[in-house]
Amino acid sequence: MSKFIKHVGIIMDGNGRWAQLRGLPRYEGHKRGVEKVKEIIRAAARLNINILTFYAFSIENWQRPKKEVNIIMDLLKSHLKKESQNFLNEGIRFKMIGNREMMPPDILKVIEDTEALTSNCNRLLTQFAISYGGRDEIIRAVKKIVMKNISLEKINEELFSSMLDTAGVPEPDLIIRTSGEQRISNFLIWQSAYSEFYFTQTLWPDFTEEEFTEAILDFQKRQRRFGRVSEFTRS
Ligand code: IPE
Ligand code: IPE
Ligand code: MG
Repeated sequence: MSKFIKHVGIIMDGNGRWAQLRGLPRYEGHKRGVEKVKEIIRAAARLNINILTFYAFSIENWQRPKKEVNIIMDLLKSHLKKESQNFLNEGIRFKMIGNREMMPPDILKVIEDTEALTSNCNRLLTQFAISYGGRDEIIRAVKKIVMKNISLEKINEELFSSMLDTAGVPEPDLIIRTSGEQRISNFLIWQSAYSEFYFTQTLWPDFTEEEFTEAILDFQKRQRRFGRVSEFTRS
């Protein structure tokens, strides 16, 4: 069924509201959110999707109260410690995209250990956007180009893409956002130029494998034209 779909991006939104609706602290929503990530990774592997990109923590999210930021970072760390061996066993490669300089060193170490451990896994690539902002990624790419003294005539879209954190990774075919918000919030702004979007009211902790499958079925009914007059399939 996943004939035309290689890469799905997911803006996992609504953890806080999920908790608030139940009279629980926001971190309970984040905890449930982490469980959902595991479920959707497994579902994607079964559906033969090659790449998943999860928006886990935006560069703007650093502005949240310190207590919430710390809880999210701790959850991330414990999740990776607990799951890294499973990733390896299941052929799941883990990669972070985002601003590493802004990351607390202990969390970054766990991230980089997991990246190294799973670097040869090739069943499914999971990119985690952490401390990630599309504009920040573009600015860092510009700085790399300047630092490398790349000559003007060599600068084109392909070269520019190769300077992004997502270098070498095909662009997302479909981007799902939960929680009813219909915006991109600085996620993959360069890479989503021709992505299809799927917005759902479901809060991320309530998202299910069934709804994920529904989103993919919905995507497969769409016609992607990439500016042409009839459907065009990119390899
Ligand atoms: C998404 O859920 C997770 C992160 C941004 C880290 P939120 O925490 O944004 O939940 P809402 O949008 O406040 O419900
Ligand atoms: C976007 O959600 C970032 C993540 C899901 C990690 P936010 O909750 O931070 O986005 P806004 O503030 O509603 O745009
Ligand atoms: Mg939110």
